[in-house]
Amino acid sequence: MAAGGDDTTIAQVHSGIDSSNKTLLKSEALYKYVLDTSVLPHEPESMRELRLVTDKHEWGFMQSSPDEASLLRMLIKLSGARRTLEVGVFTGYSLLATALALPADGKVIAFDVSREYYDIGRPFIERAGVAGKVDFREGPALEQLDELLADPANHGAFDFAFVDADKPNYVRYHEQLLRLVRVGGTVVYDNTLWAGTVALPPDAPLSDLDRRFSAAIRELNVRLSQDPRVEVCQLAIADGVTICRRVV
Ligand SMILES: C[S@@+](CC[C@H](N)C(=O)[O-])C[C@H]1O[C@@H](n2cnc3c(N)ncnc32)[C@H](O)[C@@H]1O
Repeated sequence: MAAGGDDTTIAQVHSGIDSSNKTLLKSEALYKYVLDTSVLPHEPESMRELRLVTDKHEWGFMQSSPDEASLLRMLIKLSGARRTLEVGVFTGYSLLATALALPADGKVIAFDVSREYYDIGRPFIERAGVAGKVDFREGPALEQLDELLADPANHGAFDFAFVDADKPNYVRYHEQLLRLVRVGGTVVYDNTLWAGTVALPPDAPLSDLDRRFSAAIRELNVRLSQDPRVEVCQLAIADGVTICRRVV
């Protein structure tokens, strides 16, 4: 029996739904509802300020969405993560979310090829009182992660990683991160549905960049799904988010 005892209404609301189309976010109004009801009222003020400033940046679309940031904060808190990694900082919205979610003795090492973007967000991180948890490192993430790997003390030393940078390198980051994140730890990949292009037919019209990134993401998704070292959960929020738990 449905809550309230009205089986007819429940049946109507769910008519035509099965496991192949059970997704709710089919309208901007519904997304706005989620943001207004459950996400934005809980967004820390420092994050809101940084998000609105970044929205005005010419590359502002690269910033993570507020619901994705709220997912990151929840995952970090639920898992009790203390040492984390971030690949792709931009102005620091997801980095600030991470730093706020970490405990007082937590640390996030964050990589980006550009310090210029990070300098936009740095004052917000400082004003939020979490700059002491942030270790920003400028440079290509593949090299930076290799530097970490050169020290055996870093192997399996991290609890959580968030990847949101150059998509064609995701499969390489995966190999590096599986050595840095401990068994039981979490690696989260952003943009794993690449605006839905992953499901388009091969002859669909796409820019060269979208075709290249979409192919890279499709390759990643297959690899993650077949990788016995991780347990995978693909979420259809934001631009697609994949959560991996290292199991061996
Ligand atoms: C989508 S943005 C990151 C958005 C950020 N996570 C947020 O929530 O605002 C991607 C970032 O990756 C950086 N990036 C691109 N290629 C990179 C690489 N090879 N190594 C490190 N960072 C890179 C870009 O400079 C850019 O700032």
